[in-house]
Amino acid sequence: AEKSSSVSTAGMRRILPAEMVERGADPFGPPPGLRGEGPVRPVDLLNGARAWLVTGFDEARAVLSDARFSADKMRHRDATSLRPPAEPPQGEREDGVFVFMDPPEHTRLRRVLTGQFTVRRMRQLESRVREIAVEHIEAMRAAGTTADLVPAFALPLPSLVICELLGVDYADRAEFQERTVVGLSATSTPQEQLAARGELYAFMRRLVSAKRSNPADDLLSGLVHDADPPLTDAQLTDMALLLLTAGHETTANMLGLSTFALLQHPEQLAALRADPGLIDNAVEELLRFLSIIQLGVSRVATEPVTLGGVDLPAGATVVIATPEVNRDPRHWPDPDALDLGRARTPHLAFGHGVHQCLGQQLARIELRIGLGELLARLPGLRLAVPAEQVPVRDEMVIFGVHSLPVTWS
Ligand code: HEM
Repeated sequence: AEKSSSVSTAGMRRILPAEMVERGADPFGPPPGLRGEGPVRPVDLLNGARAWLVTGFDEARAVLSDARFSADKMRHRDATSLRPPAEPPQGEREDGVFVFMDPPEHTRLRRVLTGQFTVRRMRQLESRVREIAVEHIEAMRAAGTTADLVPAFALPLPSLVICELLGVDYADRAEFQERTVVGLSATSTPQEQLAARGELYAFMRRLVSAKRSNPADDLLSGLVHDADPPLTDAQLTDMALLLLTAGHETTANMLGLSTFALLQHPEQLAALRADPGLIDNAVEELLRFLSIIQLGVSRVATEPVTLGGVDLPAGATVVIATPEVNRDPRHWPDPDALDLGRARTPHLAFGHGVHQCLGQQLARIELRIGLGELLARLPGLRLAVPAEQVPVRDEMVIFGVHSLPVTWS
């Protein structure tokens, strides 16, 4: 039987109380229920277990740089409260999904992968990112003056970039994209998702074999041939799937939600249109302001720890409430304002510590080029429906928009 990746990002609603997940009138603001007293506080989950919510910036950074907090939820599965009882029983642990491992296991696998994110490869990717972005925007323009930006642009761009990264043949890309969409989509049933993820696993496994026998100038071939000691096929397949799950849905939602946020903040959009040199700053501020990984970063305390004045028992599950953390008033003046000209200070949108996002350089390239080309090529870009009708993904670990109908002049 095929193993399927358990790196699932759906289903926050099953274990978190509604007020912590549902957005208020402002879709860009954190769920109102996340706001409360103190940087660390206990919350009762719907499965009857308890977790601790971290909303302070310093406290979140302390957790993510403290080896007493483990990312290995398989090893600590009896202690952690985050696995909903409805979740299907896990098979054997994934061999290469190092986001759920601790050092030293994590260190080795991560190092092999960072070794492949070379300056040369990123530079090559940058020109492909631009070609892919332009191609999709021009296809939208050729088809009319309205489009749903999510399927037309935000989803295919990062998906095709991952195809470039992994060296997926052009002939296989449609199949790859289709399975990815079903596997990650909120609208597919759990059975469809499981089946699609099984197929994606098989797809990646075949890709790994192909790169073993027929290496090319791509990251996956590099992983197959450069790692010393060599990685197993299972590890390579898991790592390829990790790149897909970590890099696709995140970047796609940042593209969609950033566009929505800019359209709802016309004075900021005008400033960016007037000075395209503002784009790097704009991307950083959008990452902070939108903090799309809502409650997806969590750790388990391996021993008793005092955090933000709160005593946590061994086995405590802590959930980093990134949207709140990145609006900590102790770190940003007027944190609820989107201000593209804001002085840059570190934010936690890419996490922190040993697991800090290793695709962040690539994500920034995609956002800078994707948003830049969108604004340059679609003058008069605006929503095609009232803002209240844009469906937001508040039930998902990764926040964003399910669709974004837009029009242009
Ligand atoms: C890890 C955010 C794009 C690959 C992470 C983590 C965050 C994050 C918060 C830390 C998770 C934790 O500590 O538990 C984002 C955001 C993105 C993005 C907001 C887009 C805007 C990407 C891209 C790739 C990628 C494009 C690769 C193609 C990874 C990998 C990890 C990771 C492999 C695991 C690192 C480790 O465990 O050592 N990301 N990410 N990400 N990200 Fe990203």
